[in-house]
Amino acid sequence: MQEELKNIEICAIADIKNTNTSEEIDKVRVKYLGKKGELTKVLRGMGKLSSEQRPVIGKIANNVRENIEQSIVSRINKIKQEELNSRLSSEVIDVTMPGQKITLGKKHPITQSMDDLIGIFTKMGFKVAEGPEVESVYYNFDALNAAKNHPSRDMSDTFYIDENTILRTQTSPVQVRTMEKTKPPIRIISPGRCFRNDTPDATHTPMFHQLEGLVVDKGITLGDLKGTLEVFAKYFFGSQTKIKFRPHYFPFTEPSAEVDATCFKCTGKGCSLCKGSGWIELLGAGMVHPNVLRNCNIDPEIYSGFAFGMGIDRLTMMKYGIDDIRLFFENDMRFLNQF
Ligand code: DAH
Repeated sequence: MQEELKNIEICAIADIKNTNTSEEIDKVRVKYLGKKGELTKVLRGMGKLSSEQRPVIGKIANNVRENIEQSIVSRINKIKQEELNSRLSSEVIDVTMPGQKITLGKKHPITQSMDDLIGIFTKMGFKVAEGPEVESVYYNFDALNAAKNHPSRDMSDTFYIDENTILRTQTSPVQVRTMEKTKPPIRIISPGRCFRNDTPDATHTPMFHQLEGLVVDKGITLGDLKGTLEVFAKYFFGSQTKIKFRPHYFPFTEPSAEVDATCFKCTGKGCSLCKGSGWIELLGAGMVHPNVLRNCNIDPEIYSGFAFGMGIDRLTMMKYGIDDIRLFFENDMRFLNQF
């Protein structure tokens, strides 16, 4: 048995020397050390040995295994080095080849508008506030003084999660959340996503974006609202822009108005963008209703405020002459790359 083992070692080492690739050496390993390998076969026979012989042969067998393993490792290292050397000499890297182009993304036009608006209002001292998109009926309607039978509360207009929870239909609930947490003076804007149960068409998508504004302090007047919106309109559409107020109704403001700006394309003469009127609708606004202040524990006898809300998607469409709101949400790079 001793001789058999020695023979195996000699043959194995000779076989190992003859290998030239990693696959070949793997085959040799299986041939000698594998489950059905030659060394394993001999070791299985050890049971028949006497108890004096067994440790002696065991030691030799271990030795043989170690020697075979060692010479496999050193052969593998040698083969790997050779394989690397031959790759290095055969493969040529052309360092003058142009690299892989990394295409930079850019901000979505709605995000660009949002950033523009935030820039304009923060320069006027507004802070950015945020609120949840999944909102309670209380914050979205009740606290904002919306009558229990207000049509906007309908299932057909609003996405309900359950009886008391909805996807917010406007950014106005952030007004209430802010007034509950902060004492006047308050000066915030709140951009964000809103949701309404609308069938998509050129001017409606069930998800859209608004920017809310709120100012509350002692002695705030309609004049402050007008001045603020005038500055905004001039920054956003150009310094020649004028604005006008049309009376309107919103539950959370009194008086309420819709605010128009002179068409920035024809400067008020009338064109296709403003449908010949010279004016484009900008936003809704008004003086914060005393009930809303009271709902937030702010005394309307001491404080007053103004609020406004604008559709960011619509303003962006106006600014860039985009005639279909759905284009914003189709992720077509040919469209998005134009802005
Ligand atoms: N939330 C209103 C809407 O979705 C817009 C609006 C109007 C917001 C007047 C205001 C406001 O803060 O004062 O139509």
